[in-house]
Amino acid sequence: MSAPKPKLLLAQKFPAAVEARARRDYEARLNETGASWGADEMVAMSAGMDGLLVAANDSVRADVIGRLDESVRIVATFSVGYEHIDVAAAHQRGLVVTNTPDVLTDATADMAVLLMLAAARRAGEGERMLRAGAWTGWTPTQLLGIQVTGKRLGIVGMGRIGAAVAHRARAFGMEIHYHDRDRMAAGIEKGAVFHTDLDDLLPNCDFLSLHCPFTPETAKLLNAERIARLPDGAVVVNSARGAVVDDAALIAALKSGKVAAAGLDVYDGEPNVNAGYLGIENAFLAPHLGSATVETRNAMGFRALDNLDAFFAGADPLDRLS
Ligand code: DGY
Repeated sequence: MSAPKPKLLLAQKFPAAVEARARRDYEARLNETGASWGADEMVAMSAGMDGLLVAANDSVRADVIGRLDESVRIVATFSVGYEHIDVAAAHQRGLVVTNTPDVLTDATADMAVLLMLAAARRAGEGERMLRAGAWTGWTPTQLLGIQVTGKRLGIVGMGRIGAAVAHRARAFGMEIHYHDRDRMAAGIEKGAVFHTDLDDLLPNCDFLSLHCPFTPETAKLLNAERIARLPDGAVVVNSARGAVVDDAALIAALKSGKVAAAGLDVYDGEPNVNAGYLGIENAFLAPHLGSATVETRNAMGFRALDNLDAFFAGADPLDRLS
């Protein structure tokens, strides 16, 4: 007689291929409606489960962890970011926590480039004008944007995604500057200029793209003082986490023209978006689409399931968070 399948709670509606694999290999309890659960629901749904598959919009903080059913042994998140999970509290309770790095690097880097170009080339304004029936035809001075060719791109956080953005930006003829805790190895730096101090990077950024995780140290990292250090008319891109930007400061800078344009995919407190962004033309706004391709979302799900499979087979999951 074969061993019973582990019981797995799927806290979101995941891509069909991911749910099919989960149903094949686990006794899966699905989120039938796709609506995110609150803390109490998550706790109630965990009854009798061996593992949880959650996503970046599930809050798995200490209050939830402390009340999860004792049967739960692992929390696998369908995301690279894991600030929605209190990993320390999970470890204290003896839970294993895993994430899904690597597989969303390309899609997220593509999105950062999309945001950069859309903001610089006023794509949102153009589309709104056209859809409103307000386009009266081509003119030599209509919706002039900022060219990326030959400009300096500053990258904050030169991890996998930052490096993939740099790779793409080089193809646009951009000069790469970056800040991170550590300098890249000379062989992979490819001429990018390292700035030990973030404040030294900023004056070198015609474009600034944020790729750092959200931590207590990076909260509101881009604040009014730092924005003041950018060249006038810089373009800001954020596809990392909304809370690394001080929204009030960025909105004021967009209104004054200090920052010419911003391309944003993530928001502090999302899905709520600071109303200040909604009324200004020079903010190009996307609804957290960074990893939203069929290929990447499937790969994220499969990576999370690989981690769960390894755990339930008695092995160490590849992406176990320490
Ligand atoms: C992640 O994986 O952290 C992303 O934000 C989801 O796209």
